[in-house]
Amino acid sequence: MDWRSAFSSTLLLVLLLVSPFFTNASSRLYIVYMGEKKHDDPFVVTASHYDILTSVIGSKDGSMKSMVYSYKHGFSGFAAMLTESQAEELAKLPEVISMKPNTYHQVHTTRSWDFLGMNYHEQSGLLKKANYGEDVIVGVIDSGIWPESRSFDDNGYGPVPARWKGKCQTGVAFNATGCNRKIIGVRWYSGDMSDEILKGEYLSARDGHGHGTHTASTIAGGHVWNVSHKQGGLASGVAHGGAPRARVAVYKACWGPNIDCGGAAILAAIDDAINDGVDVLSLSLGPGEFWGTIHAVTRGIPVVFSAGNEGPIPQTVGNTLPWVITVAATTIDRTFPTMITLGNKEKLVGQSLYYKATTKSRKFQVLVDGGFGCNTEKLALINVTGKVVLCSAPSQAAFTPPRQVLPGIIRHVAGAGAAGLIFAQYTVNLLEDLNACNGSMPCVIVDYEIAHRIRSYAATTRTPVVEVSPTMTAVGSGVLSPRVAAFSSRGPGTIFPAILKPDIAAPGVSILAALGDSYEFMSGTSMACPHVSAVVALLKIVHPDWSPAMIKSAIVTTASVTDRFGMPIQAEGVPRKVADPFDFGGGHIEPDRAVDPGLVYDMDPREYAKFHNCIFDPKDDCESYMRQLYQLNLPSIVVPDLRDSVTVWRTITNVGAAEATYQAVLEAPVGMTMSVEPSVITFTSGGSRSVTFKVTFTTRQRVQGGYTFGSLTWQDGSTHSVRIPIAVRTIIQDFVADTS
Ligand SMILES: *[C@@H]1O[C@H](CO)[C@@H](O)[C@H](O)[C@H]1NC(C)=O
Ligand SMILES: *[C@@H]1O[C@H](CO)[C@@H](O)[C@H](O)[C@H]1NC(C)=O
Ligand SMILES: *[C@@H]1O[C@H](CO)[C@@H](O)[C@H](O)[C@H]1NC(C)=O
Ligand SMILES: *[C@@H]1O[C@H](CO)[C@@H](O)[C@H](O)[C@H]1NC(C)=O
Repeated sequence: MDWRSAFSSTLLLVLLLVSPFFTNASSRLYIVYMGEKKHDDPFVVTASHYDILTSVIGSKDGSMKSMVYSYKHGFSGFAAMLTESQAEELAKLPEVISMKPNTYHQVHTTRSWDFLGMNYHEQSGLLKKANYGEDVIVGVIDSGIWPESRSFDDNGYGPVPARWKGKCQTGVAFNATGCNRKIIGVRWYSGDMSDEILKGEYLSARDGHGHGTHTASTIAGGHVWNVSHKQGGLASGVAHGGAPRARVAVYKACWGPNIDCGGAAILAAIDDAINDGVDVLSLSLGPGEFWGTIHAVTRGIPVVFSAGNEGPIPQTVGNTLPWVITVAATTIDRTFPTMITLGNKEKLVGQSLYYKATTKSRKFQVLVDGGFGCNTEKLALINVTGKVVLCSAPSQAAFTPPRQVLPGIIRHVAGAGAAGLIFAQYTVNLLEDLNACNGSMPCVIVDYEIAHRIRSYAATTRTPVVEVSPTMTAVGSGVLSPRVAAFSSRGPGTIFPAILKPDIAAPGVSILAALGDSYEFMSGTSMACPHVSAVVALLKIVHPDWSPAMIKSAIVTTASVTDRFGMPIQAEGVPRKVADPFDFGGGHIEPDRAVDPGLVYDMDPREYAKFHNCIFDPKDDCESYMRQLYQLNLPSIVVPDLRDSVTVWRTITNVGAAEATYQAVLEAPVGMTMSVEPSVITFTSGGSRSVTFKVTFTTRQRVQGGYTFGSLTWQDGSTHSVRIPIAVRTIIQDFVADTS
């Protein structure tokens, strides 16, 4: 995609959002509504807007500067930057029907929910059906909570649900007023933490780090208007959680600057949470296999985990137990384009978080080239003081990922008094690292192609100069998304390769949510997990009788593997590629489809018990059971060791209309044949709601191989399309590993 065209198409929208922060503080953006158009010609209508504006501002020039939008097609009106007295004067004019300061409804802040289609204006979707999460109780095991955050204001909430049995465990800087009708309970677990880690921490549920507040507000934060990244104007809009009316129960098990979470503390938290009466458990932590979660799931409490941030390396996914939902992270349709203007007037676009532009830094600055690697030794040879430095990620980027070198380069360049940094790297998102530039030093990330153009200009100009414009917020269909984030941990799982992990992907890049009293971006599968936890909470409300396995199935089988243009979702990495089930499980979450999946792959809790027992107390048939884990009735099939042929059984349960006929649509993994029997399934009212079928895979190529991927989709010919991902690996010789 051409970034500059994306830039220009979003420019108008963006102006509306950011300009209030870069103009005279005493003026703000007002929307002036003037009703029906008085003229057919839009130019005449616009001219009349300028006349009116000029009449209050006093000069034609002033009104040109002030006008942001002229509405001239469907109705008449405009948006303009006005002082309060100008606004008052305008409001008195007979042509003006109404006039109000611009507000930031529905915009882009917790943009991720709009991106997922969970919009407040949506009358038919999951959010509405679940009454915005009213009274569901979400347990969050994390680094605690910042109770004063506006996201947890309990205004307008009824009494705490009577079934709640938890408590408000007070501590340092956290008395009983920290709990309210929104944060209905808190507990903290510091017993297995060293004094070293607890030093400087609040010995209470208060969140000294911010991570727990961020995740909790992403799940259940109420609506907070007019927030932006560090209140600097980027991504400004309304912050809210996916289940904005849900109640929050906080279990602090993670402590210290590195947010270390003790396994014992986590287990204690799970134990308490089950007893307290949470409806969903959300854990943005790991890796590790938290066996205690089985007790929550067998009691009907779904458990959601993050997949980990070790990607794009294969076999790094954590939290791989079959009964939990493991979440990968994706990007959303929001970027932060930042214009770079070279001395020859060429304009190029990078990404930045440069929102505190000063007049000094907005002038042209001398550009110097720090070259490839741009390491300390190289930088020591050039005087970067007061200059903008162009740096390229090391040429062997695969060995030293940009995110490893960028923080050091920023420290060094800023320490040497540079005016700015342009950092070239392969296309991958790592904007958060730019927080080290504090929004006040222009630090722009560009790809190698743009870096080459800047470098060519610098090499052929005696005194090359460059100007960096303040970062804008671009949102919408011009932004290629979702994409699996580079950092998102990838499958297959190493402990149980026959269990597909991750299960699902959700937004986790540059998510704006509460942090202390402010709102800040954070990225990670930690941010993706709460998106799924919120959807699970809403599904629990709409379908209180569904088991955790049914909820997981509904989410996985309705996920999307293509973007809104029908293009396959991609996974970032080196190189970028089409995403497969080891990147995103069933695909990208589609909340409004998950509410009505048609069919589900349910699982009897006794299956979980059997699995658990075969690990901890293996008996008779456990060896063959563990060798055939692909027979677990999960909404996915992974056969890690196909020799000639294998038959896999699954059972589907109809949760849609009593009468329905489904047809199997197969996409066989490359190199094998795949068949399904029966391939047509009819449900009749009065008949069984569950049907068992078998899937047979036969290798066609006798090749010791890697995994190939496919899918099985049951379609009823109208609204339901129940898709499960498939991964199969052919093994010919036991003693030859995949790395051969
Ligand atoms: C409880 O904590 C809040 C916020 O930290 C504080 O304003 C209030 O004075 C405290 N109340 C008592 C009784 O200590
Ligand atoms: C929105 O936030 C900005 C920046 O913090 C502030 O200047 C502005 O007055 C706020 N507007 C409203 C309507 O609260
Ligand atoms: C580096 O450049 C700055 C600005 O041009 C200048 O003030 C400074 O003296 C130079 N430092 C050295 C060590 O040359
Ligand atoms: C950002 O702020 C921190 C803390 O105030 C400071 O140490 C650092 O030098 C600043 N970085 C830049 C690029 O100004």
